[in-house]
Amino acid sequence: MAHIIDGKKIAAAARLDIAERGRAFLEKTGVRPGLAVVIVGEDPASKVYVRNKKKGCEEAGLYSEVHEMPADTTQAELLAKIEELKANENIHGILVQLPLPKHLDEKAVIDAIPPEKDVDAFHPVNTGKIMIGDYNFLPCTPAGVMKMLEYEQIDVTGKECVVVGRSNIVGKPMAMLLLHANGTVTVCHSRTKDLAEVTRRADILVVAIGKANFITADMVKEGAVVIDVGMNRNAEGKLCGDVDFENVKEKASAITPVPGGVGVMTITMLLENTLRAAELAVKG
Ligand code: GUN
Repeated sequence: MAHIIDGKKIAAAARLDIAERGRAFLEKTGVRPGLAVVIVGEDPASKVYVRNKKKGCEEAGLYSEVHEMPADTTQAELLAKIEELKANENIHGILVQLPLPKHLDEKAVIDAIPPEKDVDAFHPVNTGKIMIGDYNFLPCTPAGVMKMLEYEQIDVTGKECVVVGRSNIVGKPMAMLLLHANGTVTVCHSRTKDLAEVTRRADILVVAIGKANFITADMVKEGAVVIDVGMNRNAEGKLCGDVDFENVKEKASAITPVPGGVGVMTITMLLENTLRAAELAVKG
């Protein structure tokens, strides 16, 4: 039976550290690190994520603002909101919650956020910096996964790392961070020919495809470390990951649960990025 990697415990330790650094920063500079979250429309899942981000800021002693905009907000109105936050000295990080309603141009919105306030690290300047290993911010979910591996003292060097999923938000940057950590990295996706054959090679398997219980025990090598980034609802409406946890945990050496795994780390890394943005913007 695998060791269950406790995201809540790791996040709590990291958040204590962030709160302490935030307090020291405030004392030194008189500035409280601030995050603005913009949400457009009424998507229920997005509303929950935004509420948790605000709560995370409050608990860590960071300043936060939530800007709720109606579903029929125009592109010009959203860009004007970003301009306003860009000029606001109390705001060091800007996050526009995705997905946006269909009529809005997500790419143009990401491009409008100044790279130095881009705490999601989605802006092309920041994604490019990650590629060359010279970055200020890491995207929150992959950074959270690396933090978990570090906490668990799982050395990536020389390991066969397989990432399932190639999104710009998780899969691609995840592969890059594992590569920077000296892993041998393979990225799989929906067009991969024999997915199980590839996933069975993994010493470290990171799954981010958004399909409930997709990775079954036969797709996992004995003793592998399995990181589940998925956040799905199963047929009974219960929250579950991309990995068939009950069966895979019998084969893996370590595994993250859903909930209580990667999810809570994502917000923690957003707090880390907000603090970092403030540190870079304000020299004490
Ligand atoms: N929607 C789901 N995850 C994320 C995230 O990490 N950042 C933003 N901006 N939107 C999201």
